[in-house]
Amino acid sequence: MKLEIEKLTASYGSVRALHGIDLYCETGEMVAVIGSNGAGKSTTLNCICGVVPVSYGEVRLDGLDILDRPPHEIAAMGIAQAPEGRRMFPRLTVLENLEMGAYLLNDNKTLKKRLEYIYDLFPKLFERKGQNAGNLSGGEQQMLAIGRALIREPSFLLLDEPSLGLAPVVVESIFDVISGLVRSSDVGIILVEQNAVLALGIADRGYVLENGRIVLESPAKALLDDERVKTAYIGG
Ligand SMILES: Nc1ncnc2c1ncn2[C@@H]1O[C@H](COP(=O)(O)OP(=O)(O)OP(=O)(O)O)[C@@H](O)[C@H]1O
Ligand SMILES: [Mg+2]
Repeated sequence: MKLEIEKLTASYGSVRALHGIDLYCETGEMVAVIGSNGAGKSTTLNCICGVVPVSYGEVRLDGLDILDRPPHEIAAMGIAQAPEGRRMFPRLTVLENLEMGAYLLNDNKTLKKRLEYIYDLFPKLFERKGQNAGNLSGGEQQMLAIGRALIREPSFLLLDEPSLGLAPVVVESIFDVISGLVRSSDVGIILVEQNAVLALGIADRGYVLENGRIVLESPAKALLDDERVKTAYIGG
């Protein structure tokens, strides 16, 4: 399957956040979108999910226009986001949060299988399944956010800065799981990150977003070697 955005333009009031973005992701590949604070990374993902209105442009899933559909319909079509800031239900347990992610599933056997799959990816979540999400560490909350997005077996997983605020060893283990997902399943991942080295290190292709515009697009390895990327995002 192919998720495609074309000439995507979005504004908050009179402030234009995206000035015509073109990008695509196919199932079975990981695409990184790197950019600094305020570049428009979260806005891009939120436009795809239908939670931020688009003023111009298109979002297509296998050629089908999905713009202007409500977020729950876009989710049901197989696009899941683990949002920035994680946004769990703090007073619900880990298990309850995961079940919320699966609210469209009314088949207990499938739910059980999916839960096992998530616990397999993130054994920490199994250990903490009865604990309130609000008491999890930052890394565990990130695992829960990814688990909740994955529980419906989406075709596309949108990750908004999964490394944010986490210790390097925790980031490493989460990124191992993320890169394993692309190899073991057919999911397509759009990984939004400020950490260019990390994201481009595991992605197939990458885009650089600056002030609401894509300024570079290349295979990830080529971007890592690009002088402009090195100067602006890797520190020489
Ligand atoms: N709800 C909002 N209301 C008004 N302006 C917003 C809103 N959300 C984002 N913006 C503005 O839109 C632009 C893009 O923001 P966005 O959150 O997409 O950036 P980002 O690349 O995700 O940044 P960060 O790395 O800090 O998360 C910024 O100038 C931001 O100030
Ligand atoms: Mg953001």
